[in-house]
Amino acid sequence: MQVATKDQRLMEGSTTKPTLSFRGVNLTFSDGTDALRDINLDISQNEFVSIVGPSGCGKSTLLRVASGLEDASSGALETDHDHLGYVFQDATLLPWRTVSGNVGLLAELRKLPKPEREKKVADALELVGLDKFANYHPRRLSGGMRMRVSLARALTMDPQVFLFDEPFGALDEITRERLNDELTQLFVTRQFAALFVTHSIFEAVYLSTRVVVMSPRPGRIIAEFKIPFAYPRQPEIRFTPQFAEIAGNISEALRKELD
Ligand SMILES: Nc1ncnc2c1ncn2[C@@H]1O[C@H](COP(=O)(O)OP(=O)(O)OP(=O)(O)O)[C@@H](O)[C@H]1O
Ligand SMILES: [Mg+2]
Repeated sequence: MQVATKDQRLMEGSTTKPTLSFRGVNLTFSDGTDALRDINLDISQNEFVSIVGPSGCGKSTLLRVASGLEDASSGALETDHDHLGYVFQDATLLPWRTVSGNVGLLAELRKLPKPEREKKVADALELVGLDKFANYHPRRLSGGMRMRVSLARALTMDPQVFLFDEPFGALDEITRERLNDELTQLFVTRQFAALFVTHSIFEAVYLSTRVVVMSPRPGRIIAEFKIPFAYPRQPEIRFTPQFAEIAGNISEALRKELD
């Protein structure tokens, strides 16, 4: 698989390329499972792209390819970023570490000097509103707070690309809506490129600049919807006819494939 790094691009004098670019990506696992078929997708800085699709269609696999954890069988992934953040459905915290110990983990693995690490941790905790809980252990946190810790940990990477695999799927609706608002605020301040997997069409429309619909496995992209709402997004837009119409169109595209 060809991967062009940011440095190579700068040397080529080109800085306007997408941050993440799938070019005809196919992926068949070694057991013959056909997971992804001819994926073409460009994501630029400042774009928030959500992926919706039936269970097992290859969404997590697509993120794994985007992160470099999985190689495409054919086609290419082109990247133009130095730092990547990855947030999973499970917060995956170490129970014996405090909140700040968990948030600082990636910075420790990167061997950043202690003062820089501590500043990154403090900034990230403040951004997700957990600065008062730095010394708590995970068992004392709610599900929403654990997800915030996971977000904060990824933020210490200063990601230019942020991958999310159903991060709020296990949360109650109110907590999820609150985290959706916090995430759109982060998106506005940090201006990363986001690839967000969700089963919720409403969440996808609320968060995104674009929603991509995938077919059942092998996952292909069958439709893309531009979302016209400006940021910061107001929670009330969820109840507008325009929002309902877009969500309805996405739902119809999904159902058509399943029929
Ligand atoms: N390492 C692997 N080897 C073989 N098959 C795999 C492997 N990883 C995933 N698969 C299969 O590839 C397909 C896509 O899996 P993937 O986890 O990407 O789906 P998904 O869209 O994320 O599903 P869900 O919505 O349930 O999370 C599934 O049929 C899955 O069983
Ligand atoms: Mg998945």
